[in-house]
Amino acid sequence: MTLCFGFVLFLLPQHSTASPTADIKFTLEASELLDESFQYVLTELPKHAPVTVLAVQDDWLKVQFKTQVGYIKSDQLTILPPQYMLVQAKSAPLVHVTDLQQIEGRGKLHLNSIVEVYPTDSKNFVFVRYGHLAGYVNKHLLVQPKVKLMTVKDPKGVVVRSTASPSGPVIGQLPAKSDVKMLTTLVGWAFVTTDKLSGYVLASSLVPAKEKPAATKPTSSTKVKKIALTFDDGPHAKVTPQILKILEKYDAKATFFVVGNEVKKNPKVLQAVADAGHEIGNHTFNHAKLTTLSARKIKLQIDSTDAAIKAVIGQNATVFRPPYGALNKTVSNQLKVPSVLWTIDTLDWKHRDPKQTLASVQKNAKNGSIVLLHDIHQTTADALEPILALLEKQGYEFVTVSEILKK
Ligand code: NI
Repeated sequence: MTLCFGFVLFLLPQHSTASPTADIKFTLEASELLDESFQYVLTELPKHAPVTVLAVQDDWLKVQFKTQVGYIKSDQLTILPPQYMLVQAKSAPLVHVTDLQQIEGRGKLHLNSIVEVYPTDSKNFVFVRYGHLAGYVNKHLLVQPKVKLMTVKDPKGVVVRSTASPSGPVIGQLPAKSDVKMLTTLVGWAFVTTDKLSGYVLASSLVPAKEKPAATKPTSSTKVKKIALTFDDGPHAKVTPQILKILEKYDAKATFFVVGNEVKKNPKVLQAVADAGHEIGNHTFNHAKLTTLSARKIKLQIDSTDAAIKAVIGQNATVFRPPYGALNKTVSNQLKVPSVLWTIDTLDWKHRDPKQTLASVQKNAKNGSIVLLHDIHQTTADALEPILALLEKQGYEFVTVSEILKK
């Protein structure tokens, strides 16, 4: 064993090649950062720990986590959807290397810029990214941006960049007349987001969107806030029926990402979910981590679950969610329906505390949010009524994930 590892080590390049754009990934679950022999643990990584990828070596990635550089298997990492927050502070906030309060930083954020934000374990810090700059920032220096609806007026369309600068890396192009949501403007640039692309464009290329005539759905999107509650890993004989009852009370629609072998155990529960008008998603047959499987086995996981669902409700799942959020090209190639992750991870499975589940939703909910919950824990059912009561008061409509994806 030792000899074998020594040989692998010999083949590793001695230098690390940092990619031109900071390639940030996140651990799927709690894992370990190993030394260059792949044998010794340098540090424990919490779930969703942000790491910067420095170099790729077959299945291994050389990554930096805070101040430490080490190795991790590539299938233990994933990409998470960011939240966009506005930098609002008295002076430009420093981006720290770690979440411990300290003086040195990697750089400063611009006031009034929009940054990508990822939650961390830390009480006071979140992990942010702005172009090449990434690190920890005090979360109190960030606020929710106000959204303005705009349209691209430039007939040639506009170039989208990852920073508010003419030299910012180009991430795409928006055609003329694209409808965008504008989250901020600064020094001639506007941060815009669409369902495909988010980044900075020249502010002068935008005009306020005209009110849509009644031809399109009159009450949708602009007035009503929508949120998608999703329940994974069931159906469960005891918990899922309670959840259905509470959802019905609030006239709420939700999405249930079911596991094939649980469907076989509790077909009547799945039938009740479908009868109540909720959306059914495929969550593999036995909660497999698909990125570790061959294409053939991935297909089997998906098809056998679809078959189990169809045997009960007469149709296939309309959406898919990979367990652990573990997705790669091999997995995506097998999918015939959209793969949907989440924007709010309540960690209900971990803390099993209804108050924390509620607090997580309360803190992060916004129009278009997708909330990750699990209908296999009593504590999640216990959290549901307060969550629905709160969000209803705030004017939210409870919809399926497909409804959110439409916009
Ligand atoms: Ni799951």
